[in-house]
Amino acid sequence: GTTWKLADHPKLPKGKIIAVVVLDGWGEASPDQYNCIHVADTPTMDALKNSAPDRWRLVRAHGTAVGLPTEDDMGNSEVGHNALGAGRIFAQGAKLVDVALASGKIYEDEGFNYIKESFANNTLHLIGLMSDGGVHSRLDQLQLLLKGASERGAKRIRVHVLTDGRDVVDGTSVGFAETLEKDLAELRGKGIDAQVASGGGRMYVTMDRYENDWEVVKRGWDAQVLGEAPHKFKNAVEAIKKLREAPNANDQYLPPFVIVDENGKPVGPIVDGDAVVTFNFRADRMTMLAQALEYEKFDKFDRVRFPKIRYAGMLQYDGELKLPKHYLVSPPLIERTSGEYLVNNGIRTFACSETVKFGHVTFFWNGNRSGYFNSELEEYVEIPSDSGITFNVQPKMKALEIGEKARDAILSRKFDQVRVNIPNGDMVGHTGDIEATIVACKAADLAVKMILDAIKEVSGIYVVTADHGNAEDMVKRNKKGEPLVDKDGKVQIQTSHTLQPVPVAIGGPGLATGVKFRKDVPNGGLANVAATVMNLHGFVAPDDYETTLIEVVD
Ligand code: 3PG
Ligand code: CO
Repeated sequence: GTTWKLADHPKLPKGKIIAVVVLDGWGEASPDQYNCIHVADTPTMDALKNSAPDRWRLVRAHGTAVGLPTEDDMGNSEVGHNALGAGRIFAQGAKLVDVALASGKIYEDEGFNYIKESFANNTLHLIGLMSDGGVHSRLDQLQLLLKGASERGAKRIRVHVLTDGRDVVDGTSVGFAETLEKDLAELRGKGIDAQVASGGGRMYVTMDRYENDWEVVKRGWDAQVLGEAPHKFKNAVEAIKKLREAPNANDQYLPPFVIVDENGKPVGPIVDGDAVVTFNFRADRMTMLAQALEYEKFDKFDRVRFPKIRYAGMLQYDGELKLPKHYLVSPPLIERTSGEYLVNNGIRTFACSETVKFGHVTFFWNGNRSGYFNSELEEYVEIPSDSGITFNVQPKMKALEIGEKARDAILSRKFDQVRVNIPNGDMVGHTGDIEATIVACKAADLAVKMILDAIKEVSGIYVVTADHGNAEDMVKRNKKGEPLVDKDGKVQIQTSHTLQPVPVAIGGPGLATGVKFRKDVPNGGLANVAATVMNLHGFVAPDDYETTLIEVVD
């Protein structure tokens, strides 16, 4: 069994109240007009930066530093919070699926053999995000899975696509659909009845998270399972092109559509006996659909029909709920997280964000595990997000409310660690609206100020960091770093995350005078933060944790 007891830190005391602030989508980049953090009025974060190099530094938040396949992979909240909370780097879903597909092991394991039983007489449905962003899914993985399944007996295949435009440039869905349609045509050439059956934009159809808005999942269900949608087309490319012609249409929010045959009949509702795979590897935006597909008892919306299917996730999305029961690839086993250690060493923990990021500082932080380790020592507070809006219309989001909750938790002195995620830079950055993102950054900065002020009052310590970049760069750039322009001379807006490093700042009246950042961890990443926080609580991190970022000089 695990020895939970942590060794005492030789120099740092226990009993300080520590605020751990994660600014979502807050990276460091050169200052120009597309760097919303630079343009925005952010005096609190600016002041922290002035404490470099001893108490402000950058850490890596993308690529292999957070367990992603390559250095070209931008960071994201799942892998970022996993690394922050777990203090170690785990090969993440993207990578594990790559390996399982390359070795063919994916086809030998339980999950695939389970769905395979449907191949002879029924349809295989594949539902997921059509993108090469590598955050939730990847098109090349879908392509390999289509090939692998068809070679192993799938005779009738239906793909239910969700268009992206959030982890990739808006409009790229057309090209992805063309690639996919070409592959499906090739399969048809080999006698396999393979087609796209339905689709819709990821933010409007299916991919809600943390139960912000079940209507989103219902829209997907109606199209995917019932074969019902307001728009009907002959193929996915035509559907996406046509739907994008509507004013203000974009990939993220395309309405649901179904593909119909020459008689106007939907080509791919999900029926009894079928197999279904949700091919996203990332959990947060798949667990709601997974519940709808798997749970006999379900009251989140009227499913109308609940087909008896064989369902498997690309991964198991929730280790605690064992959801779904069947999966093609085993998820990273992220155990012994810092949250679990600290709670087992008596650290009373408060965590808070608004709905759209709530699971980030709880579920992702704790290694994709839902619930408390010890409900007597922990309190997680979710502030309801506005739903049904794009956050550029409300760029302040609930930053103030999160700041207030954190402040109250700190001042109550009932907690040793008060942890928050402040979503603005990321959620507004994803809309691609530069003006709104500037407002968002200012709001996030104000929330940080509230928390630092409270920490001052209780003579505590703060650790301010971020999970990955977003708001610090809102344009696509060429190799030289110059903004890319389209044929009309307009800059290409970047809605996605970035490859940029993120800040880590420490301070507060409770921080012992000799504490500063070490100089010998130049390539430090998000995974180094956990040991650092453990030190500040007065403990030495377990041996296999990535090393601490701080030293104490006498
Ligand atoms: C999303 O799910 O909103 C984006 O694909 C990734 O954003 P996140 O990693 O910041 O949640
Ligand atoms: Co994001």
